[in-house]
Amino acid sequence: MLIESNVPLSTTLKLPCIAQQRYTVESVADFPALMLALADKPFNVLGGGSNILCAAQTVGAVVQIAIKGVTLLRTDDDAYTVQVGAGECWHDTVMYTLAKGWAGLENLALIAGWVGAAPVQNIGAYGVELCDRLHSVQAWDVQLGAIVDIAAADCGFAYRDSVFKQNAGRYLIASVTFKLPRPWQPVIAYAELAKQFASSHPVPTPQAIANAVIAIRQRKLPDPAHVPNAGSFFKNPVLSSAQAAALKALHPTLPTYPQVSGGSKLAAGWLIEQAGWKGHTRHIDSGGQVGVHAAQALVLVHLGGAQGTDLLQLASDIQADVLETFGVHLEREVNVWR
Ligand code: EPU
Repeated sequence: MLIESNVPLSTTLKLPCIAQQRYTVESVADFPALMLALADKPFNVLGGGSNILCAAQTVGAVVQIAIKGVTLLRTDDDAYTVQVGAGECWHDTVMYTLAKGWAGLENLALIAGWVGAAPVQNIGAYGVELCDRLHSVQAWDVQLGAIVDIAAADCGFAYRDSVFKQNAGRYLIASVTFKLPRPWQPVIAYAELAKQFASSHPVPTPQAIANAVIAIRQRKLPDPAHVPNAGSFFKNPVLSSAQAAALKALHPTLPTYPQVSGGSKLAAGWLIEQAGWKGHTRHIDSGGQVGVHAAQALVLVHLGGAQGTDLLQLASDIQADVLETFGVHLEREVNVWR
């Protein structure tokens, strides 16, 4: 384990933030020593930093789980079971599994961040959620003081939600084990994929789907390496079917998606765009700039020189405006560190 002091944190929003201590865990064997070193201090867990807004310029203890490795645990008739260390890059993992012939993660290509963060918010895109491909999660349970294996069914997965998110600070994810289905079936119902592959014979390959997803993401979402952002800033709100129908009667072009679990999901990007925020840039007195991405209103961007509180203020103003205009509360998807 590596322990460092006063470390500037690297997040995809590139907002200035210093961790008083950073504890880097490199193997499962490090966890007992980590607990002793933390000595009951509160801490935040950082992965690739792709879903975090540092509102404070200094935070206390930060734990980063940098455990590496990709291992094929089993090959069965119905699945490949693959274990991946929490510190592996998500997108590289997707591409590596595809290259090995273990398909199933292709719809989740190009999502920023590390593997260990993926179960926390049950990442999802273009018709697939992480929980559709998960076997189990190996984590250090801070409460029990032991390593536990949590089966997918016990992870409390829901839309951008899990037991790991609900019990922040309890589980330190060491590795994620995927169950990648055999035979593989393409998931191409998402409108833009369906359009591209509708007349495709034979069925598209996993690599072709990954390429299509990468192209869609590059078209709509800003590359954090060039325009700092944290992906979708808000969740898509889920309303009761009656509430969604009432809102759609007032706004017939509002996109709504009925949920199998009941209720109807609305497109937050549409609400933000209709409220007039898409492409908006805010110039702050300090000289910094924050804004709303011009190709996807659900993505807030840091255009340089701003503090976390500036971006948080923009987010609050958007939330207040959408609430006043449509009566819908937008919940943040991004985690805020104060
Ligand atoms: N829309 C607008 N204006 C916008 C953006 C979207 O009107 O500026 C409307 C359009 O009608 C569009 C619909 O919203 O058809 C849905 O947009 P999109 O397909 O881009 O997806 P999203 O609902 O905005 C969600 C995820 C994304 C994921 C995509 C694709 C959440 C919070 N976001 O976005 O995930 O890539 O679906 O599956 O669920 C992320 O979590 O960081 C993320 C990028």
